[in-house]
Amino acid sequence: MRVIEVLGPLQVRRDTDGEAVDVGSPRHREVLAALVVDAGRVVSTDSLLERVWGDVGRGASTSNLHAVISRLRGRLSGAGIDVAIATAPPGYRFDPPEAVDATRFQDLLARGRSATDAGDLPAAHDLLHAALELWRGPAYADVRLPFAEVEAARLDGQRLAACELVVDVELGLGRVAPALDRLPALVAEQPLREAFRRQQMLALYRAGRQAEALEVYAALRTLLAEELGIDPGPELQELHRRVLAQDEELGATPAGSDAPAPTAYAPAPTAAPLWHSEVVVPADELVGRDHDVAHLRDVLTASSQRLVTVTGVGGVGKTRLGHAVAEASRDAFPDGVALVSLAPIADPDLVLPTVGRAFGLSAAEGLDPLDAVAQHLRSRRVLVVLDNFEHVVDAAPALARLVAVCPRLSVLVTSRTTLRVRGELHYQLSPLDLPGADDDAPASVAGSASVALFVDRARAVQPGFAVAADNAAAIAGICRRLAGIPLAIELAAARTHLMSPAAIWERLDRVMEGSGARDLPARQRTMRSAIDWSYRLLAPEQRELFRRLAVFHGGFTLDAAEAVLGDARDTLGLLEDLVAHSLVLRDADHPGTVRFRLLEPVAQFAAEVLAADADEERDARDAHLAHFLRLAEEVEPGYRGDGTRDALATTEREHANLVAAIEWALASGQGDLAGRAAWALWLFWWLRGRLLDGRRLLQGVLAQDVSDPVRVRAHAALGAMTFAQGDMALARTWCTGVRLARGSGDLEGEAHNLAGEGLIALAENHLDEAELRFVETVRLTEEAGLAGEWLWTLAHIWQATIRLLLGFPDHAVPLLEEALAAARGRNDPLAIYIALFTSVQVAVSVGDLATARTQLEEGLALSLDTGDMANLAYFLEALAVVESQEGDHERVAVLHGSAARLRESVGSNVYGYYQPDQQLLADAIAAARTHLGPAYDDAVARGRGLGAEPTVAYATAPRSALLD
Ligand SMILES: Nc1ncnc2c1ncn2[C@@H]1O[C@H](COP(=O)(O)OP(=O)(O)OP(=O)(O)O)[C@@H](O)[C@H]1O
Ligand SMILES: [Mg+2]
Repeated sequence: MRVIEVLGPLQVRRDTDGEAVDVGSPRHREVLAALVVDAGRVVSTDSLLERVWGDVGRGASTSNLHAVISRLRGRLSGAGIDVAIATAPPGYRFDPPEAVDATRFQDLLARGRSATDAGDLPAAHDLLHAALELWRGPAYADVRLPFAEVEAARLDGQRLAACELVVDVELGLGRVAPALDRLPALVAEQPLREAFRRQQMLALYRAGRQAEALEVYAALRTLLAEELGIDPGPELQELHRRVLAQDEELGATPAGSDAPAPTAYAPAPTAAPLWHSEVVVPADELVGRDHDVAHLRDVLTASSQRLVTVTGVGGVGKTRLGHAVAEASRDAFPDGVALVSLAPIADPDLVLPTVGRAFGLSAAEGLDPLDAVAQHLRSRRVLVVLDNFEHVVDAAPALARLVAVCPRLSVLVTSRTTLRVRGELHYQLSPLDLPGADDDAPASVAGSASVALFVDRARAVQPGFAVAADNAAAIAGICRRLAGIPLAIELAAARTHLMSPAAIWERLDRVMEGSGARDLPARQRTMRSAIDWSYRLLAPEQRELFRRLAVFHGGFTLDAAEAVLGDARDTLGLLEDLVAHSLVLRDADHPGTVRFRLLEPVAQFAAEVLAADADEERDARDAHLAHFLRLAEEVEPGYRGDGTRDALATTEREHANLVAAIEWALASGQGDLAGRAAWALWLFWWLRGRLLDGRRLLQGVLAQDVSDPVRVRAHAALGAMTFAQGDMALARTWCTGVRLARGSGDLEGEAHNLAGEGLIALAENHLDEAELRFVETVRLTEEAGLAGEWLWTLAHIWQATIRLLLGFPDHAVPLLEEALAAARGRNDPLAIYIALFTSVQVAVSVGDLATARTQLEEGLALSLDTGDMANLAYFLEALAVVESQEGDHERVAVLHGSAARLRESVGSNVYGYYQPDQQLLADAIAAARTHLGPAYDDAVARGRGLGAEPTVAYATAPRSALLD
């Protein structure tokens, strides 16, 4: 019996005669749809109102809803339709699910899948065929509301999956003709979906139409190249190769009733897909979200919707849900899943570079970040979860653009508001289900998700806590009062060790009644009042610490909290109190250091109460600034000496705090302090490609009235940022720096700016001028007592580079020897490998391949050790040149493949300061291609599949061991 049809425009039909039944106005149809999407499950009154009327004016429409429902009931039963809209607290339930065609479709699809898996292809075919017959057009075509659009996208994903499967089954059964009938429409509908192209190639090939099969591939390749600048995926490339080669296995129909083997020719998967998470979620149980997780997973993995926004009030569980969906979807994204936290970011321009960084792209902050990130992600099948997008809504158009140009990228955004961009699918996350309105029996109360969460959290502070006859009404009352918002429920449950549920309920009631902020939407007001209530129950000392914690961004350590509280109080004890009250979270995720953090709504509340006392706020922010300035200056020498890796990691972890500290210094007119902190950070920014933050903050410093040494250094650092961005005009800020430094007799400051001028000259190929600058840099550093230090070392290396470019490799040797000795003396891996790289160029140019090889091996090991993949790529290419000159073409190809892969993973153009001879590399590659013939591509592919560590092992293994 199917009487509600949604696989097309919504339609109600009488079972007996198939006659269409009018159920009333569009509103009636919308309410019916809102019930039918969850057929068989209770939809709460709140959710129904939200689905149909939206978030505004809900109070006024409760009675409308009841009226609509009774009208619907009347129409349905009047027409003799045998379905029910049951009243089921806290809402309504549509029954039976089988009355809906979408239910029937999903059931047939599931059975079709099982039959396929069991190898019963004839049965599978009939089931899938029947499933697809149910479709009349886009699902819920005439219900234009977000909930229906999400459901339609999900069902459409399943329809496409069914189409794909039925063709596979047909091919498995040797029925090529029906498959060939189906495929053109599917390819036309989904031109970029490679599965349909694959099937079409295979079917044509099996029909003896090899040329047409190749044309299908060529058409897709052209389309991808023209529209997106990418190649077909590896699976399709492999199939193409085999069609060309007339591979015998391709022609064979799997014998008898074997299951189809659509992936039999897929290349073996390489390394484990990336999983990158900046989002920390507690280890406790996720309650009541199975349905949402499954739903979103379906949409993201199977439909053609690739930008989904989950919205909801602060604390409703968006972040938590996003994390769960990402975990559940991992298997569908072979190139990885990344969860990016936008909460610490204030600048919308940083959104795309931050996405790139999650996938290892460290060079996206140049002049065109969208292009850099798109290049990087274009051909990858990845899922990105962007958490807390409301901070940076201005980045929405850029994000939409990224999704448009990366056809395999899917994005899940969590945000308090929608993005309002084309192609966005909006998923409104409701609070957890509440206990039914008038039913306080313990068993029914305990069955609701919000109560389950309350009980779970109460047990953390009160083992053995349970719903019983004497507390069921109070617990239900608390959850209703808190509107089912998880964070509010957690705060209340954390109090159960001191108060009975009844006492909590009573107090909450009182607080909520009287609480202000009438201008906020109801749920937000609820959330705020719950935090306020929790805050007021703290002791004065706990409150003070809580307020001051508002100054942190991206979490904090105990040390930092102590610094901000400012005296000899027991900060750890107070922090533990706040953790016990669920106001502060302890992150277990960071090995070696315990970190704490505040959830967003809590942090916002803390900032609000801190701002109420200007003196306290200033005091806390100054203490935060002093602490992080000290940290920045302590860590800084590590970037160019012992402990580079740790130094970089520490700064990375505290980066949001460091930026916030500089911002406060600028905002409060302490430009000198801001400038000092920025000077301590510039090398980190440069090495890690954090150019936008660096640039913005340094420009802020220069805009203030700061002392000469600070100003000179701000010019030096700003020059470095803009030079690395490729913005030569702005990089000339170095010239101003030089003039200013000369005026104030600041030798060190002058040297830094002068070296910058030298780099510009070098980049613009004014070699004589560049050399003069570097010679002068060396002199200045020596006069300033900095001989052997970092800048002195680099100025030597750059001089050597120029000597080499001018055709005097012999002159370069002593310069490099001095530089290397100094770098080794300081244990500075960065300077060591920069010197080695130039040294290798020199050795190659004079034909001393043995020296080149030894130095390359050292450089490879060092790059691997410091995790510098960009550098590794350069060294591999240099080694390829050496191998070519020694006649080992296969190794050239493998090394080239591996370097190309590494370079793609970090983004191009990371080291503006290397000047490798591109012609030598191009010659080496061309020679390898000629010598190896068809084996060349295989060798390159092998290199691409190697990964960093095995590549270095391969590159440095004794060559006699490689002859097998
Ligand atoms: N379904 C759930 N089960 C268990 N705990 C949950 C659930 N949903 C949310 N929580 C908890 O509630 C708190 C708030 O959730 P979360 O941080 O995900 O909210 P949010 O919607 O992302 O808020 P914001 O808008 O402030 O970012 C967290 O402590 C989270 O672990
Ligand atoms: Mg969140």
